[in-house]
Amino acid sequence: MDSQARSALIEAARAARTNAYAPYSVYQVGAAALASDGRVFSGCNVENASYGLSICAERNAVFQMVAAGARGLVAVAVATRDGAAPCGACLQVMQEFATGEVVVLLAGEDGSVEETSLAALMPRGFSLEREESDV
Ligand code: THU
Repeated sequence: MDSQARSALIEAARAARTNAYAPYSVYQVGAAALASDGRVFSGCNVENASYGLSICAERNAVFQMVAAGARGLVAVAVATRDGAAPCGACLQVMQEFATGEVVVLLAGEDGSVEETSLAALMPRGFSLEREESDV
């Protein structure tokens, strides 16, 4: 990922964060997923009065990617107020579509960006062997 793609991904996550629907936690999250075909998909957290129905920004972004027909996840940027890392559920969903080392960029409101990876955040993520022909 070149520095332009990196900046664009962080910007997409920050922009998506402005659409977060988080009236209960008041913790807005934006995420952007870079697919292996170069497309960027974004998502925000969307909460619900029935709390368990809430969806995280990262899963929302990855699911947008899959729904658009892309399958390979190359990088994810996450924007929060404090540069927090994705939750375990979101890491597992990233793992499902991971291609090689998935770069994870953690952006804070103060302009900070920490670069890490899916493998660093979840060293032994679960996956099943799949045939290439699986859909
Ligand atoms: N949240 C995310 O969007 N991503 C994460 O990885 C962790 C948490 C959301 C869920 C909920 O809407 C709010 O942040 C507080 O947990």
